[in-house]
Amino acid sequence: MAKRKQIKFGVLVHGVGGNISGWRHPEVLTDASVNFPYYKEQVQIAEAGKVDLVFIADGLYITEKSIPHFLNRFEPITLLSALASVTTNIGLVGTLSTSYSDPFTVARQFSSLDHLSGGRAGWNLVTSPLEGSAKNFGKPEHPTHDERYKIAEEHLEVTRGLWDSWEDDAFVRNKETGVFFDPSKLHRLDHQGKYFNVQGPLNIARSKQGQPVVFQAGSSESGRNLAGKGADAVFTGHETLEEAQEFYKDVKGRAVANGRSVDDIVILPGIAPIIGRTQEEAERKYEEIASLVSIQNALDYLGRFFEHHDFSQYPLDEPFPELGDLGSNSFRSGTDKIKKAAKEQGLTLRQVALQSATPRGQFIGTPEKVADLIQKWHEEEAADGFIVYSALPSGLRDFVELVIPILQERGVYRTEYESDTLRGNLGLPIPANRYSVAKVNS
Ligand SMILES: Cc1cc2nc3c(=O)[nH]c(=O)nc-3n(C[C@H](O)[C@H](O)[C@H](O)COP(=O)(O)O)c2cc1C
Repeated sequence: MAKRKQIKFGVLVHGVGGNISGWRHPEVLTDASVNFPYYKEQVQIAEAGKVDLVFIADGLYITEKSIPHFLNRFEPITLLSALASVTTNIGLVGTLSTSYSDPFTVARQFSSLDHLSGGRAGWNLVTSPLEGSAKNFGKPEHPTHDERYKIAEEHLEVTRGLWDSWEDDAFVRNKETGVFFDPSKLHRLDHQGKYFNVQGPLNIARSKQGQPVVFQAGSSESGRNLAGKGADAVFTGHETLEEAQEFYKDVKGRAVANGRSVDDIVILPGIAPIIGRTQEEAERKYEEIASLVSIQNALDYLGRFFEHHDFSQYPLDEPFPELGDLGSNSFRSGTDKIKKAAKEQGLTLRQVALQSATPRGQFIGTPEKVADLIQKWHEEEAADGFIVYSALPSGLRDFVELVIPILQERGVYRTEYESDTLRGNLGLPIPANRYSVAKVNS
């Protein structure tokens, strides 16, 4: 199976962090989630490490039990637009939900970000797992998991259609003749579908990279199908090499079944490296974060994945409770994994909650150990690259200053950006404008 020769990296910058209690660590700025200088500094560290992209995650519903970062954070497109002006090469990728947005708005916003950044925009398409989101958008109910993916598929088709509204040389802008554009190169979409009716055209042209890069972050059967059909890149999460290899092969296979090449889709599992001068130092860093999490915090964190279920009703040291279908309408692939691991490993509720709140992962140790593992996953077809996240701000600096130079030395990671567009750096083709192609073929 073809595989990118060089490893790709994205970094998830997540304010006070993804750990429910990580904000209490002495190193964390307590307002980091709404602190632009903090984001700017982190993204510039990533850019100095020639990282492909920064990823800003998002959600649409909070409760008083949500993790601190979710309670008070920037909206991704706004933040990425500000970051565009203080960076030059790094890709700018943000989450936007297909269940709670209109394709016309999504197409415009990402296209604008793509122009502002000179071709560095990426859209992380998500279907929104949280049922409460419906209440924030005046919707009678949250669509089911299956329906959300059907909406997503049509949404993506319409958004991509809108992005092609203008052929690349449509704008003539001739002051002498008074011709601003060539009408034969302007196209209305006229989409009439089950979920969306959109006439078009879009009021912004294509960018230097043709269309923003589309990322997909669901790993269920429906998520994998959507990725194979239409995503340029996939964010995913795996605990073992074998699991990641299965996913990699499966999603690449789905792309090929849709008439695409294996190189048309980039697969990026998330990893949370913790680097120490010795294995013991790295383990100590992990314990420092894990020890901040109380069992009540951990139960609250777990509950969010299971439709805000109240886990405090169960005994902590008995086997993980039988939950039937609970969770499968929200974070399906994630909750399926938690239930399966609990059953197979005979875990108690306390163990599951604490492990979910502070997953340990494999990428803990010396820079050499982490670099070896990254290289192994890449060479053994488990990943084209990785989304790196860290509970602490120093984690990104450690990664860039200690792990990346080892990979550069070994020739498996770039020492300079190949391109100033996200597609260029990820090695993704520029999609031809569908109308220009049709003209050539007619
Ligand atoms: C690595 C990763 C990143 C994700 N990022 C987001 C996000 O930023 N916002 C969001 O609402 N959902 C996010 N999701 C959730 C997915 O979009 C999806 O709704 C959820 O995983 C359920 O779909 P699935 O069962 O197909 O995985 C993410 C999922 C994964 C695996």
